[in-house]
Amino acid sequence: MTQQYTTLSEIPLSKSSVEHASFSYWYKLFQKHIPTSRIISPLPDEFIQYLEQDGIKLPVEKNSSSYYTDKIQRNEDNEYSDWDNSDDEENTRKYKQPIDPLTHFPELHQRIKDIIDEIGPVTPKLNWSAPRDATWILPNNNMKCNEVNEIYLLLNASNYIAYDLEHAFDDCIDKDQITPTKPSYELVLRQWFNINPALEFRIFVKNQRVIGVSQRDLNYYDYLEALSDTFKDTIDEFIEDEVILLYPEQDFVIDLYIPRPFKKAFIIDINTFSRSTDPLMFSWNELVTMDLDIDNERDYELRLVKRNNVARFASKEHSENQVPKDVVDASLDPNVIKELASKWKELLSQQEADTDSDSDSAEE
Ligand SMILES: Nc1ncnc2c1ncn2[C@@H]1O[C@H](COP(=O)(O)OP(=O)(O)OP(=O)(O)O)[C@@H](O)[C@H]1O
Ligand SMILES: [Mg+2]
Repeated sequence: MTQQYTTLSEIPLSKSSVEHASFSYWYKLFQKHIPTSRIISPLPDEFIQYLEQDGIKLPVEKNSSSYYTDKIQRNEDNEYSDWDNSDDEENTRKYKQPIDPLTHFPELHQRIKDIIDEIGPVTPKLNWSAPRDATWILPNNNMKCNEVNEIYLLLNASNYIAYDLEHAFDDCIDKDQITPTKPSYELVLRQWFNINPALEFRIFVKNQRVIGVSQRDLNYYDYLEALSDTFKDTIDEFIEDEVILLYPEQDFVIDLYIPRPFKKAFIIDINTFSRSTDPLMFSWNELVTMDLDIDNERDYELRLVKRNNVARFASKEHSENQVPKDVVDASLDPNVIKELASKWKELLSQQEADTDSDSDSAEE
């Protein structure tokens, strides 16, 4: 019988489990099951600093024109961000002048452009995370990048990317012994395709066995339930025959895409079996304590959003990062940002005044 757990901390996360979840590691193992991707690694330090800055300077290349650089030029200076804000002491202290891709990492800049020329629009990610929370910064509100500047904007605006850069090993039991403390960063450019989010699944594997599967996108799709057994067959076969034999971890979470006719699975992502991975329609407590081995007859559950639980799950996905369209428009024009900021202040003080009068009346 396999070991039984009662809390997630009993399943220790090591540095190597985190490294095994980085794209370049599992890409080597499963390349033929992964949609077309390119990996750039190692990355220059200046690029990492560029992503960490509060706001960025987009490159304006001679003889080239793009949605962003045209906008920048119309706005007189070529700064996309708040760089010229002299109040921003943090930036001024850290970097004497804004990092410019054309000056500080021209080879990487060119490499990204070459990859886009070769495979068409891409969606970026670093070792572990994609900037899913920053789509508001692009006009189409998705992660599709037609040009290099869109990649810079998405990555710089994302908290998930900032997490990869600052906290990748935070949950590891051996984090104090980790040297060097920073991982070797990689930029992954995946060829963009129109993924149907209904057909993405997150598979939880414990002790090399599937213990649960959740729909990845938490909206209601009426046709999924009837296909449940088909998905399970494809998942079981793929995990058993392709993944478990090669992947060195006992416990992990893998995201699969199973497009029509639902016979083939593609790997979208592999994550650690740890709290930093979203358990979606499960809870971590449930996953950790679940032990299908005790009762071999019992099969795992494929959880789907149903008509009666849609309200519970639909708004779960990083809702804290949804930004109003006004802010998106403003991000493309410094003058509008100023206008928006003063409106925002006005609203806040109005709200404070309202709250004060509310609490005054409540106390009465
Ligand atoms: N090649 C692609 N073309 C279009 N969309 C894609 C492509 N690859 C992935 N996506 C979409 O991007 C989403 C996020 O990708 P991915 O799972 O790699 O990010 P992540 O940051 O690791 O997410 P999580 O934090 O949930 O693990 C996927 O669920 C999928 O919908
Ligand atoms: Mg992931």
